[in-house]
Amino acid sequence: MAAAAVLTFAPSAHAADTLGGSAAQSGRYFGAAVAEQHLGEAGYESTLNREFSSVVAENSMKWDATEPAPNQFNFSAGDRLVAYAQQRGKTVRGHTLVWHAQQPGWVQGLTGDALRQAMRNHITKVAGHYAGKIDSWDVVNEAFEWDGSRRQSNLQRQLGDGWIEDAFRTAKAADPKAKLCYNDYGTDGINAKSDAIYRMVRDFKARGVPIDCVGFQSHLDYNSNLSTYRQNLQRFADLGVHVQITELDVGGWGNDQTNVYRQVTQACLAVSRCNGITVWGVTDKYSWRSDVTPLLFDGNYQKKQAYGGVLAALNGA
Ligand code: G3I
Repeated sequence: MAAAAVLTFAPSAHAADTLGGSAAQSGRYFGAAVAEQHLGEAGYESTLNREFSSVVAENSMKWDATEPAPNQFNFSAGDRLVAYAQQRGKTVRGHTLVWHAQQPGWVQGLTGDALRQAMRNHITKVAGHYAGKIDSWDVVNEAFEWDGSRRQSNLQRQLGDGWIEDAFRTAKAADPKAKLCYNDYGTDGINAKSDAIYRMVRDFKARGVPIDCVGFQSHLDYNSNLSTYRQNLQRFADLGVHVQITELDVGGWGNDQTNVYRQVTQACLAVSRCNGITVWGVTDKYSWRSDVTPLLFDGNYQKKQAYGGVLAALNGA
């Protein structure tokens, strides 16, 4: 009688049971946007501590929060978040040094070189304050329109096309260690907007402009078309920059929501230069788009079906 076949199974890697723990198994982070005012809430803090290995300030490191008056800086909320993260071995994304929105009122009236100097000073002082503590900075946020043209913000109109390069060079001087990212939405595939950003990054890399990363905000819905999502991430990675999913949320629920979260997670895992994923909040109840329950934990901090889909995808890496 032939010897019975003996089936042996290679010991599988221990499947992690948290998002951050599982992402770390492939050398990635899994983070969340944090509104510091909720850190005293038990469910918020316990969920953040347990599940996420990276944090980003949802609002408190933006220009209106950090420099409410000319050259008058307020780092208290950002410092609290950085200290919280460092005490727990979490990394920090910086969001965001220069953006057309949430500028303090005094900036919006500036013109020409006054605006240029204000932008440079802001970047220098904020990135300098946090130097060495930020893994990645969103140096510039949302500078392009859907058709690939430059957003006609005060920055673009007053400073011309060179303002983005200027911002990156200024940030590099202030914090040589941080990854410097360009961050935007509506870039969830190959389209006119992502094409324009691709051309800018290719030009920056060719001319030695210090850029290290592109952030894909990925504010999605249950029916988002992700047919070229991974391909788009890969083409940016092939330029020699890191890619990061920076503000992921998916409007919807159940299977459809889960499938979109799973596709995004699998796309990041498929691109070696994808450093990790950040969801834009801890719980649905505090989401900027809470009406479409877009996050991984419900209002009672219970794991949703989409959580299971993401964890399974991360453990499948
Ligand atoms: O801080 C004031 C508070 O003093 C005031 O009492 C209250 C009521 O008026 O407003 C508070 O400011 C709000 C701020 O969030 C902090 O909570 C602003 O009104 C509100 O507009 C602001 O919304 C933020 C939004 O950016 C502003 O554009 C959202 O929380 C934040 O999730 C959202 O995040 C952006 C990213 O930074 C960039 N990508 C898009 C994403 C969604 O818009």
